[in-house]
Amino acid sequence: MFKAILFDVYGTLLDVHSIQIALEKHFPGKGIEAAKLLRDKQIEYTRLYALRPLEIPYKNFMSLTQSALEYTIKTFGKNNQNIPVADIMSSYQKLNTFPEAVQVLDYIKSKNYNMAVLSNGDSEMLKEVFENSGLKDKFDTSLSADSVKSFKIESKVYKLASDFFECKPDECLLVSANYWDIIGAGWNGIKTFWINRMGVPRDPLGYAPNFEGKSLEGLQRIL
Ligand code: LAC
Repeated sequence: MFKAILFDVYGTLLDVHSIQIALEKHFPGKGIEAAKLLRDKQIEYTRLYALRPLEIPYKNFMSLTQSALEYTIKTFGKNNQNIPVADIMSSYQKLNTFPEAVQVLDYIKSKNYNMAVLSNGDSEMLKEVFENSGLKDKFDTSLSADSVKSFKIESKVYKLASDFFECKPDECLLVSANYWDIIGAGWNGIKTFWINRMGVPRDPLGYAPNFEGKSLEGLQRIL
């Protein structure tokens, strides 16, 4: 049915909010709030950089994540100069994998689908986090927005998939828990499976995903 199954990484396979454990040590009682701010700023910065004028140099996802962490530390850490940015960044390379991820990826592979990561994460960052998270060797290829020096939802990022698999966009299925990513992929002709873990509403912007499930396990129903 599909030529390739594409997976978003942060928020979809890896729990970005699991960084709250590292943040809680420095901001007691505020770990989850800090983790949410870090994620919001990280995505905000990718959007700024995707729209930057030509003369503004590119920064990769790792660098923008560190900037988002620095903002989070300024917000929650006030004047504390001693919060170890490098240690928290190294925890970001050990985010928790959602519990069903490995089993579902193995199931999809057993059905002989081509499987790829399609992520804002730069390849070095993805390589390290996959080694730490049990996701190493689960994919046929890793397609990174870094290779076109931009970020989702710019069209050229989604085009990486149809170019790599030499197919039409609608022969690919993007799996993502980020609704903005689902919209971006859908607008670019890719079929979509939205992982809606929290049971939140769809953004009412006129696009509806092709499929929806409460976890990655929902994929097993359709593949
Ligand atoms: C990813 C993040 C942005 O592209 O979810 O993996």
